Amino acid sequence: MAASLPPPPALALAALAAAAAILLLCGAGAAEARVLLTLDDFGAVGDGIANDTQAFLDAWAAACDSSEQAVLAVPVGKAYRIWPVQLYGPCKRKLKLLISGSIVAPASPDEWAGRDPMKWLYIYGVDGLSVSGGGTIDGSGQQWWASTCKRKKTPPCYSGPRPKTVHFEECRGVSVQGVTLQNGQQFHLTFTRCSDVKASFLRVIAPGDSPNTDGVHLNSSSHVQITDNLISTGDDCVSMVGNCSDVRVKDISCGPGHGISIGSLGKNRTTDMVENVKVDTCFLTNTTNGVRIKSWQGGMGFARDLRFESIVMKNVSNPIIIDQYYCDQPTPCANQTRAVEVRKVEFAGIRGTSATAQAISIACSDAVPCQDLELKNVNLTLEGGGHATASCYRASGKTAGAVVPPSCLAKS
Ligand SMILES: *[C@@H]1O[C@H](CO)[C@@H](O)[C@H](O)[C@H]1NC(C)=O
Ligand SMILES: *[C@@H]1O[C@H](CO)[C@@H](O)[C@H](O)[C@H]1NC(C)=O
Ligand SMILES: *[C@@H]1O[C@H](CO)[C@@H](O)[C@H](O)[C@H]1NC(C)=O
Ligand SMILES: *[C@@H]1O[C@H](CO)[C@@H](O)[C@H](O)[C@H]1NC(C)=O
Ligand SMILES: *[C@@H]1O[C@H](CO)[C@@H](O)[C@H](O)[C@H]1NC(C)=O
Ligand SMILES: *[C@@H]1O[C@H](CO)[C@@H](O)[C@H](O)[C@H]1NC(C)=O
Ligand SMILES: *[C@@H]1O[C@H](CO)[C@@H](O)[C@H](O)[C@H]1NC(C)=O
Ligand SMILES: *[C@@H]1O[C@H](CO)[C@@H](O)[C@H](O)[C@H]1NC(C)=O
Repeated sequence: MAASLPPPPALALAALAAAAAILLLCGAGAAEARVLLTLDDFGAVGDGIANDTQAFLDAWAAACDSSEQAVLAVPVGKAYRIWPVQLYGPCKRKLKLLISGSIVAPASPDEWAGRDPMKWLYIYGVDGLSVSGGGTIDGSGQQWWASTCKRKKTPPCYSGPRPKTVHFEECRGVSVQGVTLQNGQQFHLTFTRCSDVKASFLRVIAPGDSPNTDGVHLNSSSHVQITDNLISTGDDCVSMVGNCSDVRVKDISCGPGHGISIGSLGKNRTTDMVENVKVDTCFLTNTTNGVRIKSWQGGMGFARDLRFESIVMKNVSNPIIIDQYYCDQPTPCANQTRAVEVRKVEFAGIRGTSATAQAISIACSDAVPCQDLELKNVNLTLEGGGHATASCYRASGKTAGAVVPPSCLAKS
């Protein structure tokens, strides 16, 4: 019997190391006392089939209520099927969710009957939560995608809301690092009205034709760092809407997908204010856009102090694009005079290939032209060889260094 054999030395060492780690974790010598809880302690099965939702809710409640810092582990090698849950903070202490196994959504949209269709893992009001552990959060979105009108060409099709896979709302001091988010029903990782947020060392993966599966999405959040991620989905790798400020997007590999997008802003005449965003050191491949600012006619507010720097594009369809006429609806959008102002935007050190002839496309509004744009050391050529073109409408600014294709900006 295997159990009667002495453990191989490597295993014994690993067991010792694990014991030591737990001692350290709980030990009196550590600066902070901590408590380690696992989903299994609360009766979770982790076979990918059983309903582990109640165990997850109970574990969250215990961890959140712990007077010592808690680490809530989702054990490796197991898959926990979780129905839509709403987890609430604030918790008594900082909390770590160590996801090393998998958390899996129910596959059928029918499981959302009688529930909020926009939520799966919804986390509200937390302050000081970190998520890590190398495991996977799987939205199992395939049936959701198949039912959408974007995919399904014969009626009936679904155009209603779909769950955001992991959605933080009203949060502070949250980090999500070193996990895989995959096959989201819709956006994979969303922060709404959050501040001091980090999303790093992530793998975000969904098929290139999965509808609206944005990677990381910000809505009215500030002091955000999105770094060191591989994002490969069916929509924007990173997108931000509402009032966002002080956002850093850095070291991202993106594609397929729709690129990195500020907006759409000003939808339905809203006031959106985005400022101080820096996007740098990104590699984009096969995306439908590169770096993009898009706004609806009729909106108010601004997108300003934006910097896109050190970006390499490979076969990207619209490498640099500003569009103040964005309209993503079946009927044409009425022309309106108001617009979200676009000002002080720098594109520097952007090179690579465009999948379409027009590599730079800047379309600003008559009433609120774009101002203070800068193109600096840009070199975009046609994929497969040849010259690309640039087009500007109501855009002014300046250029510096070599700009290929030649700049179309009017002098400020
Ligand atoms: C799974 O458990 C949760 C929590 O108890 C419950 O809300 C949900 O309806 C259960 N799902 C099914 C299919 O029974
Ligand atoms: C942003 O969040 C607000 C709620 O604060 C919501 O009403 C709005 O629809 C969200 N915008 C997007 C694009 O999700
Ligand atoms: C952005 O801030 C402005 C001014 O505070 C406010 O009117 C607007 O509703 C905010 N927009 C969003 C999407 O929260
Ligand atoms: C936009 O506004 C119209 C009318 O005011 C409303 O019917 C519609 O639901 C709004 N759309 C969104 C996305 O908020
Ligand atoms: C880009 O798309 C082409 C054609 O579909 C494919 O052959 C290539 O592998 C893709 N490149 C990357 C890096 O995904
Ligand atoms: C470039 O992208 C287009 C789709 O936009 C695709 O058809 C083509 O195969 C890609 N080429 C390469 C070399 O990846
Ligand atoms: C908006 O204006 C453009 C340019 O003047 C025009 O081509 C277009 O038909 C107008 N759209 C609508 C919906 O009126
Ligand atoms: C732009 O890139 C092309 C292709 O890599 C290269 O041949 C060309 O010399 C570059 N031009 C400048 C001005 O850097």
